[in-house]
Amino acid sequence: MTAKLNVGVLGCGPIAQAGHFESCTKASNARLYAICDVAADLRERMAWTHAPEKSYGDYDEMLADPKLDAVIIATSDAFHVPASIKALKAGKHVLCEKPVGIGLEDVLELEREVALSGKRFQVGHMKRYDIGLQEAKRFIADEMGEIVALKAWYCDSTHRYAMTDAVQPLIVKSANALKPSQDPKADLTRYYMLAHGCHLVDTARYFAGDITAVNARLSRNKGMHCWFVDVDFASGTLGHLDLTVAVRMDWHEGFQIYGQNGSVTGKTFNPWYYKTSEVDIFRERDGQSYRPLGADGHFYRRQLEGFARAILDDVPLTGAGIEDGIASVRAMLAIATSAAEGRKVRLDEVSGRL
Ligand SMILES: NC(=O)c1ccc[n+]([C@@H]2O[C@H](COP(=O)([O-])OP(=O)(O)OC[C@H]3O[C@@H](n4cnc5c(N)ncnc54)[C@H](O)[C@@H]3O)[C@@H](O)[C@H]2O)c1
Repeated sequence: MTAKLNVGVLGCGPIAQAGHFESCTKASNARLYAICDVAADLRERMAWTHAPEKSYGDYDEMLADPKLDAVIIATSDAFHVPASIKALKAGKHVLCEKPVGIGLEDVLELEREVALSGKRFQVGHMKRYDIGLQEAKRFIADEMGEIVALKAWYCDSTHRYAMTDAVQPLIVKSANALKPSQDPKADLTRYYMLAHGCHLVDTARYFAGDITAVNARLSRNKGMHCWFVDVDFASGTLGHLDLTVAVRMDWHEGFQIYGQNGSVTGKTFNPWYYKTSEVDIFRERDGQSYRPLGADGHFYRRQLEGFARAILDDVPLTGAGIEDGIASVRAMLAIATSAAEGRKVRLDEVSGRL
């Protein structure tokens, strides 16, 4: 029998209910060993529904459990760094929801703790487990040659809740849930960047590598936030990102990559449809294109299985590491600074919090 990683999920909120509990119970190499939430009503309801072996109201108690191998941090962004550091100090591996943090100094401190702990730390950039994106990355690495230019866009839709409500389980809320002192949605410019911008930045980096500088413009008009960002990659690739929340049309996410020996175009769906991106890969040498089916589009379960495989088989992480999480925070800070100050901003000059 395959060994299974004993996973504890911190937080019984929407992302745990819609993604992580099911991922743990369906994973081939992990199981839902424990859940934890200070909100007793929510925790008890989730324990009945998902049947973990243990249910904790206190995070320290869950971390003290010697049978627990790893924690999924599924809390508000502001709690990610302290909750991750606690888990690492308790000797647990960590899969932390995105964004890894909201401030540069905090995430650099976390990086030091990851190194000291010797434990695995992965950021929940689950799009890296989209089979279409994975095949695009393989083509880029093995066949495409130099990436001359990349465009990527992530445009949330005004209809997104009609879409997600139709396919997600009914999300249970609790008045007792622990929330950060600053309401994450109080400042929408900040919230959209943290919630959505970090996915866009990570997808761009997944394909084209490190971003060195950005020049961003932000339009807030007719209830829409639209960032157009010129991007310099360390590789010399010319980049452009479009983050718009929310477009008056269907969910609109994708990318175009123009390379030396071919091109890749991709259309990505709202993740809750669990549908692999439609990625068309064109090879100049034979004039043919192909599109992987990617029948298994459960990005959250595939992410957990990848994380568990790295731990159980002692192989390198296949997902985003702490350095990728930090690069996302730097890029988001640089985009926000550039849009505010109207100038090009290097990622190595940013500091502070979003
Ligand atoms: N990857 C994705 O596609 C995706 C999608 C949605 C949300 N997210 C991320 O998931 C994270 C969580 O989002 P959410 O909407 O579920 O959050 P939430 O704040 O609604 O729920 C978090 C839950 O954790 C509990 N909690 C927090 N700290 C705790 C502690 N120390 N001890 C015990 N319980 C604690 C709270 O009581 C709450 O019930 C966010 O960072 C968000 O960005 C990711």
